[in-house]
Amino acid sequence: MTAEFALLRGVRDVVADPAARPESFEGDALVVFLTEGGVGAGGCADVDRATGGLLARLVAGGDLSGRRYECVALLAPAGLRVAQVLVVGLGRREDVDAGTLHRAAATATRQLASRARARVGIIADGSWTTRQLEQAVAGACVGMVGQDLYRAEKKRFRFGATVWIGASPETVDRGSLIADGVNLARRLVNMSPDDMYPQTFAEEAASVAGRTGMEIDIWDEDRLVRERCNAILAVGRGSHRPPRVAILRYRGGGGNDETPSLALVGKGVTFDSGGLSLKPSDSMLTMKCDMAGAAAVTGAIATIAALKLPVHAVAAVGLAENMTGPAAYKLGDVITARSGTTIEVHNTDAEGRIVLADVLDVVKGLRPRRIVDAATLTGACMVALGHDVAGLFTNDQPLCDELAAAARAVGEPVWQLPMYADYDEQIKSEVADIKNVGDGRWGGAITAAKFLERFVGGIPWTHVDIAGPAFAEKPRPWIDGGGTGAMVRTFVEFARGT
Ligand code: BES
Ligand code: MN
Ligand code: ZN
Repeated sequence: MTAEFALLRGVRDVVADPAARPESFEGDALVVFLTEGGVGAGGCADVDRATGGLLARLVAGGDLSGRRYECVALLAPAGLRVAQVLVVGLGRREDVDAGTLHRAAATATRQLASRARARVGIIADGSWTTRQLEQAVAGACVGMVGQDLYRAEKKRFRFGATVWIGASPETVDRGSLIADGVNLARRLVNMSPDDMYPQTFAEEAASVAGRTGMEIDIWDEDRLVRERCNAILAVGRGSHRPPRVAILRYRGGGGNDETPSLALVGKGVTFDSGGLSLKPSDSMLTMKCDMAGAAAVTGAIATIAALKLPVHAVAAVGLAENMTGPAAYKLGDVITARSGTTIEVHNTDAEGRIVLADVLDVVKGLRPRRIVDAATLTGACMVALGHDVAGLFTNDQPLCDELAAAARAVGEPVWQLPMYADYDEQIKSEVADIKNVGDGRWGGAITAAKFLERFVGGIPWTHVDIAGPAFAEKPRPWIDGGGTGAMVRTFVEFARGT
């Protein structure tokens, strides 16, 4: 079941064939990408020629438009040695970017993966940049994996072999390792929260560390007590499953960099019932996704290690289950976080920031050059930006700009929200240093970010609120519903520039 990073063990089911020709490719299906401009040159022209002008006729007749993510299957095409050609639209040629290619390739493989296929060819276009091809390969590997982990009757079937025609093997390998990070993050989110709790998440992280060559440190409850991590311990107290902190480390910087250039931090609330500030059933239903930040940074650092990027990176995740057991933390409780800052609890459902308070303090002690955290932190961020866009919050504009550029380069939508000093007033408490909610609900994504800022000690930091994009209640053409692996590709791209 845990297929991610099998390439590192020499298992190759996604390969490149730089010299292959579409007309001689034998397999179950051949995927070709079409822009709105018509058949043009490249893969479409090859398929058109081999089929005696079929594509051009369909374009002229209006049955093929090349509109973005349109999928048209041509069954038993004469002149080719495949059972079908799947023509996938890319939209206007001048608008095609890495994100378009990622989603278009995923749309194609998602459709084909509805049943088992032994061998599928995908035509890479010579006009794409290396980055674009990489993201297309990653998309193809994401599209064919579903959320059917526990179904007897599977809905998606990973192809026996995927052959990228006209692509370079190095680029295809990189794309498939990027997808492994995304698919790992998705699987961790999609697992039942009764299987994926702090201890088992930490075990999964250890297994990934073993597969990708990373160091790992797991702090159990005794260690958390010794480390004065009272904040994460408070959140975890309502559950019979104790919290964990896991710290993954990849030293790709050559050895003489004692301090990490990048620290990733993830919220890993493996289930968020809201605690005593209990959520209504409707909002609670999808709260297994509340560890998506932890899953994203785990997937990202695993890919960073698998790609052997020349950086020294750490990823620290705070794992806790927010429940209502007899020892649960309460409204009015004052917690002394690891940093010494005191927190008055006004709402036990604002637990993510409390967990992250301690993890950020632990990471601060490692003296990283920069910190990026990912968290399904606030419903307010979804009110502001909707389902698909992640919110960015920072104490360091150049860092935030770099992260936004990485997101743009791979086609993940992000939008920055302001961090005016005025918001700090809203988290002041009468009895403690701070309280864990703002005054009222307005600006709730920002007051949450302001809370986190108190724990990064002036280190350049950007917080990414992924409450919207981390989990899809409905499928999209390019991905099944459930965990999306949001921000894994962005973090990997960001680490490359670091
Ligand atoms: N995990 C939730 C945020 C969330 C909501 C993630 C929807 C994904 C989808 C978080 O712990 C939470 O409950 N936040 C509260 C904060 C409030 C009590 C200040 C919220 O957003 O309502
Ligand atoms: Mn909550
Ligand atoms: Zn939460």
